[in-house]
Amino acid sequence: MLPFHKVVADDFNAVNQRIIEQLHSDVGLVENIGHYLIEAGGKRLRPLLVLLITRALDYNANNSGEKSGPQVIQHNLDLAAIIEFIHTATLLHDDVVDVSSLRRGRPTANAEWGNAPSVLVGDFLYSRAFQMMVQIRNMDIMAILSDTTNIISEGEVQQLVNAKNPDVDERGYFSVIHKKTAALFEGSCETAAVLAEATTEQRRSLRRYGYHLGLAFQLIDDALDYEGDAEALGKNVGDDLAEGKPTLPLIEAMKRGTKAQRELIAAAIRNGDSKQLEAVVEIVRSTGALKYTNNCAHEQVDLAIAELQCLPDNKYRSAMEDLARFAVGRDH
Ligand code: IPE
Ligand code: IPE
Ligand code: MG
Ligand code: MG
Ligand code: MG
Repeated sequence: MLPFHKVVADDFNAVNQRIIEQLHSDVGLVENIGHYLIEAGGKRLRPLLVLLITRALDYNANNSGEKSGPQVIQHNLDLAAIIEFIHTATLLHDDVVDVSSLRRGRPTANAEWGNAPSVLVGDFLYSRAFQMMVQIRNMDIMAILSDTTNIISEGEVQQLVNAKNPDVDERGYFSVIHKKTAALFEGSCETAAVLAEATTEQRRSLRRYGYHLGLAFQLIDDALDYEGDAEALGKNVGDDLAEGKPTLPLIEAMKRGTKAQRELIAAAIRNGDSKQLEAVVEIVRSTGALKYTNNCAHEQVDLAIAELQCLPDNKYRSAMEDLARFAVGRDH
């Protein structure tokens, strides 16, 4: 557990419990793959945001939650579990698309069972998330999360179209990372705000917090794909180059480098050539392109933290600030 989990430790454990309960299926393979990935852990940052925001805004299950007999329904816990299901579904699909073999320190589901079961169990998790969402009976939440999942898919497809194209510019890159990654952070924060009956202003600010945090998060992920350590990351480094992904470290290195360096990177992107990884790492380091990517992430985190002014000053808000700083200081 990271330090900023501790302020909502009980809620967090209850969410993990709900996640496990909701994995049930009559089909053994669905449960096996679901448990395999969920039990490998993950940082659970997105559900944590739901818990922190709902608590920061004093969402109180006894007031805002519905009573079902003697049992109080805590929709914040359900929402957090829903968000993690959506995230896990995107990871299952993403590892197939990226031909990745390591996730959360274990062989990916596609490496272990193959592509078809990974795609289908990803669909199962998506649709289970929507079944759970219906139970919350809130049309705004349904609208936000259906838009979110639609935009994530669009971002992944856009990225596929951009693959092996060294002419993709910074603007094109930011559009992809907004859709594929920041959208879920935006949706997590905004739905939590809706659930906690935030003001319109708070709802907008929290969505913007998610936006900036999500961009920062993917910027660091893309830097770590060149400078990270597979052991700490639990994923292989160099996957992006192998797929010819024009991420910011490469886009910036092509701007800053010599003609020869630019040509080497462009060719590696065109060919999805991971044999050039060492040479590319040297260029993204020496040109300052990695540093630039990290600086962009820091800028985004500062913008995210500025939005937190909309919340009352309490330990949950502080934890959201710590979480944002962690997103740019992390090695995993
Ligand atoms: C991985 O997300 C996918 C990206 C958006 C980069 P996380 O790094 O949050 O994955 P887990 O859940 O902690 O494994
Ligand atoms: C993650 O992008 C985006 C989604 C999961 C939708 P990456 O492909 O960079 O994520 P990792 O590095 O595999 O976790
Ligand atoms: Mg990937
Ligand atoms: Mg990907
Ligand atoms: Mg990545």
